[in-house]
Amino acid sequence: MNTERHIGDDIKQRKTAKVLADIPWKPSLNYSEQEELIRDLLELAACAPYHYKSAAKYHTSGLESPLPFRAYTLTSETCRKLADQLLSMNPPPGKISNMLWAAEVLIMITWLPDVFGDQPQEREMEPLPFTGNIRNMEHIAASSAAIQNILIGATQKGFPNYWSSGGVLRQKPARRLLSVPLEEMLLGCLFIFPKDAYERGVEIKAGKLHKEGKNIQTWSKSVTL
Ligand SMILES: Cc1cc2nc3c(=O)[nH]c(=O)nc-3n(C[C@H](O)[C@H](O)[C@H](O)COP(=O)(O)O)c2cc1C
Repeated sequence: MNTERHIGDDIKQRKTAKVLADIPWKPSLNYSEQEELIRDLLELAACAPYHYKSAAKYHTSGLESPLPFRAYTLTSETCRKLADQLLSMNPPPGKISNMLWAAEVLIMITWLPDVFGDQPQEREMEPLPFTGNIRNMEHIAASSAAIQNILIGATQKGFPNYWSSGGVLRQKPARRLLSVPLEEMLLGCLFIFPKDAYERGVEIKAGKLHKEGKNIQTWSKSVTL
């Protein structure tokens, strides 16, 4: 029997796991292991396909990459501090706090929109609505491919994970606290939870749509001429 594990197994195993800790957890990895995990996952993100370079205005000192996305990474210690600080902020964080109490690391991915015309000096929110052109569509597509690489990588390593839209982490107060520029569009807050999360006896919510869409005949069609 062929016991070799294939990338397809990890893709099929990936699933949303929203780990809701009721107190701040002690992480299972130490600081340098967390940093190594983050580095490994970002290296996978960097292997995703991308079509267009981001606009020059995003190529700032230290973050000069032409990639159409950026990553902001938090170790467990920063996640716990963030959870603390969010509790006293408006709007209230809701379940994001429970997940920040559980997370081993958090990776926030933004995509970098091409914008046109005058832009405000100081923003209250992300540049919504953004321009619906092909370049922006492909910036989002490339950034999503990078995110999926991270999720598959985390799954392969045995870490339960969750792609969140971000909730309060999208909003100005949290963005300012974390220095995640509001010019950038937050695409995903990727929560990477401890390997033993399922043994710690807390609620872990699955993705509502996990079972849907698995019948390929319902969304694909053979084209012949
Ligand atoms: C762009 C994007 C944003 C998402 N944001 C959220 C979110 O904010 N809250 C949530 O419960 N699930 C969110 N999800 C996860 C989906 O709910 C989940 O992927 C879906 O239910 C399918 O389940 P599965 O991931 O287990 O296959 C998001 C997924 C994507 C692709």
